[in-house]
Amino acid sequence: MSVKIIVGAQWGDEGKGKIVDLLSEKADIVARYQGGANAGHTIVANGTKYVLHLIPSGILQDDVQCIIGNGVVIDPVALMDEISILESLGISIDGRLFISHKAHVIMPYHKLLDKAKEESAGASKSIGTTGRGIGPCYIDKFNRTGIRIVDLLDRDNFAEKLRANIAEKNQVLTKIYDQEQLNVEQIVTEYLEFDKKIDPYITDTTLLLNNAVREGKNILMEGAQGALLDVDHGTYPFVTSSNPTSGGACTGLGVPPTAVDSIIGVVKAYSTRVGNGPFPTELHNDIGEHLRKNGHEFGATTGRPRRCGWLDLVALKYSVMVNGITEIALTKMDVLDDFPTIDIAVGYINKGKKLKSFPADCDTLDNLTLEYVTLDGWNQSLAPCKHYDDLPENAKKYIQFIEEFVGVPVSIVSTSPDREATIVR
Ligand code: GDP
Ligand code: IMO
Ligand code: MG
Repeated sequence: MSVKIIVGAQWGDEGKGKIVDLLSEKADIVARYQGGANAGHTIVANGTKYVLHLIPSGILQDDVQCIIGNGVVIDPVALMDEISILESLGISIDGRLFISHKAHVIMPYHKLLDKAKEESAGASKSIGTTGRGIGPCYIDKFNRTGIRIVDLLDRDNFAEKLRANIAEKNQVLTKIYDQEQLNVEQIVTEYLEFDKKIDPYITDTTLLLNNAVREGKNILMEGAQGALLDVDHGTYPFVTSSNPTSGGACTGLGVPPTAVDSIIGVVKAYSTRVGNGPFPTELHNDIGEHLRKNGHEFGATTGRPRRCGWLDLVALKYSVMVNGITEIALTKMDVLDDFPTIDIAVGYINKGKKLKSFPADCDTLDNLTLEYVTLDGWNQSLAPCKHYDDLPENAKKYIQFIEEFVGVPVSIVSTSPDREATIVR
């Protein structure tokens, strides 16, 4: 048996979808633990590309049970869309999808408030959210006014809670953001319909998972976003509103830390970030463009161009510490194939002093001087490499440098979006 957490070690989009899909071949259960449809997890298998937002990346393996845990915020509209897209691609969901009765529901007003807040903040102060209503839904959760999946099961209670919420949100929308009132009864009618659609999937996923742990099943806990977007440990306030770090897997699923056997950090061979906020190794030059072009760095959820830069080992070492990462899945190595030299950030210098830890404030992060080490590139395609020993010496040196700096082995190397193009050591 094994319980593994798969966590994004940078700013998201590290290739978690590909790695979870790959590992789910040997899994019984794949469970998402936080975030929502802000995630975009890409899988390329048998010539088809799938982008998943809410449904766990184990769904392509016929026998794998997929869980959306209590820590996830669920937009029923996005969920229904995703289910129909998967069904149109011949992927059956029936009997394999389980939704926590404790998960919170994203309502239309969460999405409106997300966008209104971003617009009123203006370009210089906005976070650059995905606009999926994530922050406002988690606000209601922690404010103890949110609507949960379990509420869908009690129609009268649900309508009453929804009316109370909309009345309050209408005040905020009209008085603070100068927007139109929402039509309460229209939303109540629309959302009462989701009861029938979602009902077959609703269950006590905490019990299901803990039983599975006891029975020795193989369980993957699939993170969304990445450690540096964590509301506690990321580059606050330019973060998401949940805990993508490994600790979030336990709270987001109701599985105790003692059940977890290993934590796989998914690491992109360079760095990207989508949205605003500090990014110490960002490259505003031809090299950044080259990374974006080679890596097709455009958001899987919003299509926005991703900001690109060199690998940041100071940030990664911090991420390894905060997540307790025990092994690394290194993705997109092929994107570096044609770089004659490759830089890696190994030190943060602030006001002439080398920092000993990852700074908490954006001002420091924005004004760092970076210490880099330059390694020689491998100047050849990694496509033919099927085993670790097939990798060119300079690619191995790059991997070894990462391992020695952060103190964790690289156990998986990915060399293309395709499921098959993966070296497992
Ligand atoms: P996630 O959010 O962490 O699941 O990552 P995304 O799916 O948002 O972004 C990763 C992108 O890189 C997707 O387009 C993947 O198909 C792609 N990808 C994953 N692994 C590799 C790889 O090893 N090489 C290349 N070139 N692309 C990859
Ligand atoms: P996956 O799971 C990359 C970013 C947004 C924004 C910030 C807050 O595909 O790796 P939010 O909508 O969550 O309130 O936005 O977080 N962000 C992501 N960036 N990958 C993601 O998910 C992201 N989910 C949110 O761009 O900067
Ligand atoms: Mg993504």
